[in-house]
Amino acid sequence: MKFSHLEDIDLAGKTILLRTDLNVPMQGGKVTDHTRILRLLPTLDYLTQRQCRVVLLSHFDRPGGKFVPSLSLAPLVDAVSAALGGREVKFGVDCIGPAARDAVNKLQPGEIVLLENLRFHPEEETGDAPFARELASLGDIFVNDAFSCSHRAHASITGIAQYLPVAAGRLMQEELQVLTGIFSDAQKPIGAVIGGAKVSSKLELLEHLTQTMDILIIGGAMANTFLHAQGHAVGKSLYEKGLKATALKILRQAEKNECRIVLPIDVVAASALQPQAPCTIADIDAIPAESMAVDVGPASIQLFSQALAECKTIVWNGPLGAFETSPFDAGTIALARIIASLTAKQRAHSIAGGGDTVAALTHAGLTQGFSYLSTAGGAFLEWLEGKTLPGVAALMQGGHPHIGGKATHG
Ligand code: 3PG
Repeated sequence: MKFSHLEDIDLAGKTILLRTDLNVPMQGGKVTDHTRILRLLPTLDYLTQRQCRVVLLSHFDRPGGKFVPSLSLAPLVDAVSAALGGREVKFGVDCIGPAARDAVNKLQPGEIVLLENLRFHPEEETGDAPFARELASLGDIFVNDAFSCSHRAHASITGIAQYLPVAAGRLMQEELQVLTGIFSDAQKPIGAVIGGAKVSSKLELLEHLTQTMDILIIGGAMANTFLHAQGHAVGKSLYEKGLKATALKILRQAEKNECRIVLPIDVVAASALQPQAPCTIADIDAIPAESMAVDVGPASIQLFSQALAECKTIVWNGPLGAFETSPFDAGTIALARIIASLTAKQRAHSIAGGGDTVAALTHAGLTQGFSYLSTAGGAFLEWLEGKTLPGVAALMQGGHPHIGGKATHG
């Protein structure tokens, strides 16, 4: 993949527009998971050491193109500052217009400012060119360090790149290097574990993986759709009735491509999806009519473990059960431990990504147990689907080294 890295551009003393993903989990105005912020540190250190003025751009949540006070990025200032060891981070109350320009103009070399939520302006999500141009006018160089947003053709992802020289930040570079490797030089056999609730939301993913994986393990409620399609009675389990033909097509396609699909052979069947609800282990041919499958059972975990032991590369996206509801997190935790153990013994290279997957690994205390953890959710999925992400395509095009109306630095 050809794109500029930070080293390829003369950044010294320049104003850098750094697209980050500060769409981080928060509760009561406090960040509850700092991963995405900490993963930006290599880029931030690199830029500030070169006396760049750093302008942080990000969205937060989905405010729908209007100012929503509870979705302000202001509370992120302290979190970014803390990650930088207490270094001051300034705040601009808007990402365009006089407030943004003023905040950027006041920056001294080596200083950082965070501008307000890009999605307070509807033009961000529509990829509006004048909006992108106005953002671009705030800086000299665009650095995209938000792989996790690169599936969005938004103004701050693809638009700014039309007006400024572009480089990938360290995190973007790392994500692309690792994730490109999945489909190019991964050690074989390569297996994927895909969980989650719905086949319909991961249809393209499953189809692509049957063409690229040697082994495909399917868990979560989406496995119920496959089990039902194969003729198993799944009781009150969540499944997609209308996708029987699709599920069977995926199974046939996998067989044709010599991709081995591994489905659960037993489940944890519960009377309700509630913490500590009465539950039992049931063979997939004996799921009680009044029960629902809420997790994979121990025999399935053993089967999955045997399949994973054959793999030299393992990719994981999606929990195997209703992991937010204890004790139905057992299958997901067991799987995480198996993959972490294969990784520790250097028998497999493991890559995980996706919001729920990372949350599950955090819950299991195993975020360090994998070879690589992507910061991306939707972008990770689209990458695994084999799609070209607009933000990555914009990096390849390299941007344009011209711009009018730059901010003047005071
Ligand atoms: C994410 O958390 O996956 C990114 O920040 C993208 O967010 P979005 O799905 O709201 O575009």
